[in-house]
Amino acid sequence: MINDDNRRFRSLTVALLLLGLILAGCEHPPVDTVQRGYRGLGMEAVVNPRILADKVAANIPPDPLPAVSSAGPKAAEVYQNVQILGDLSVAEFTRLMASITAWVSPEQGCAYCHDQANFADDSLYTKRVARVMIAMTQRTNEDWQAHVGDTGVTCYTCHRGLPVPAEVWATDPGPRHVKGLAPAQQNIASAAVAYASLPYDPLTPLLYDDNEIRVISESALPQGSRKSIKQTEWTYSLMMHFSDSLGVGCTHCHNSRSFFAWDQSPPERTKAWHAIRQVREINKVFIDSTADILPASRKGPLGDPLKVSCKTCHQGAYRPLYGANMLKDYPSLAKLSGKARAAKDAGGN
Ligand code: HEC
Ligand code: HEC
Ligand code: HEC
Ligand code: HEC
Repeated sequence: MINDDNRRFRSLTVALLLLGLILAGCEHPPVDTVQRGYRGLGMEAVVNPRILADKVAANIPPDPLPAVSSAGPKAAEVYQNVQILGDLSVAEFTRLMASITAWVSPEQGCAYCHDQANFADDSLYTKRVARVMIAMTQRTNEDWQAHVGDTGVTCYTCHRGLPVPAEVWATDPGPRHVKGLAPAQQNIASAAVAYASLPYDPLTPLLYDDNEIRVISESALPQGSRKSIKQTEWTYSLMMHFSDSLGVGCTHCHNSRSFFAWDQSPPERTKAWHAIRQVREINKVFIDSTADILPASRKGPLGDPLKVSCKTCHQGAYRPLYGANMLKDYPSLAKLSGKARAAKDAGGN
């Protein structure tokens, strides 16, 4: 008898534990609804305040280092091999180096980019990549304000204390066993598109190459090759990437009664339009220029360097770090300078 009771008690406990495990994967109510369009349009965002609170807590940026004087000799006068940041005072330069270390290589320290016996030496690949990264950050803040506004970005926006940002991508060759069997390159779970059953690498054609994203035909018969159901799947797949990266639904950028109509779309869609062009430029101009610098272990399976997507900066937030402005404390990252400035003024990027 005692044994039977024991067994029954044990199976009940196991059943309850299992139920608990299953329910642990669910979001429990209540949820909030935020209206994003005129009344009656159903343009609503559903927000779980508890999950949002956790996300906000995980997106608090580090405190800036105390400001220092811009007086005194310039870095270019004191150091031997400063190509971009030469206009900073030595104090400002040192403060920026310390901040970069905290943002990119807090565990490895200065030695991640420097031979500490000779800071002017360029032999570590990480230092040469960092120079490209400084110019990329300055370019983003100077010329892509239509998207990043005055909030802008610092190294921390992408890196968050890691030498290689957590959310990067490379051209996906797909699993080998389905080669030739998946003509639309889909029906394979892929993180890039939030595991939807859609083309698994929309990023290469649409956030690296500049293929057309618009697929809705303006005439009775589809004109041009990209206005087809097949191409729509690629666009849909990219849109899943947008929603997942920003932690929003489609109505953050569209009025779903008419996905193509710009005059009915929220203004965020215009920012996203600029964002698409900006990310393509980051990948083609800056990331590609690190291809010859990076070791093979830092490249994708097809040998291309790790690239930037919407998720690299946003990481699940509709504004990276929920709009925290780190740039105001680091004005040297707001505008191109040194060699990068000269290249732009000469008509390049
Ligand atoms: C993520 C890479 C990175 C880290 C980490 C880093 N630096 Fe640098 N450092 C650079 C780059 C890039 C330059 C060149 C800047 C330029 O060309 O304008 C540079 C240049 C310098 C120079 C100028 C050397 C010369 O004579 O030309 C000094 C000094 C320096 N860093 C000190 C430091 C110190 C101290 C730390 C740690 C607190 C540090 N750096 C951490 C990337 C880094
Ligand atoms: C828009 C996102 C973004 C920003 C902003 C950014 N990075 Fe990066 N960073 C990347 C990506 C993507 C890679 C990987 C690709 C590569 O190495 O070229 C990378 C790689 C690096 C690496 C090479 C690390 C390794 O171990 O291979 C260094 C060093 C680096 N970044 C420094 C910086 C510094 C310093 C800043 C700020 C001045 C910065 N990054 C800003 C996206 C970013
Ligand atoms: C972050 C903003 C954003 C989100 C979220 C978003 N979209 Fe888009 N969508 C855009 C932009 C911008 C374009 C136009 C791109 C261009 O012109 O290069 C677009 C284009 C489209 C198009 C093609 C319109 C045409 O003219 O052919 C469709 C369809 C579409 N989106 C559907 C969706 C769906 C479905 C979702 C949700 C899964 C979604 N979008 C989420 C910004 C967004
Ligand atoms: C280099 C970092 C970076 C990348 C990459 C990036 N964003 Fe952003 N994005 C930002 C910053 C910073 C803001 C905040 C601007 C502000 O505060 O005004 C922002 C804001 C936005 C907004 C406005 C959101 C709102 O509700 O105010 C949209 C929409 C957006 N981004 C879409 C995208 C899309 C789509 C992509 C990929 C194609 C993308 N972003 C990639 C940095 C980035």
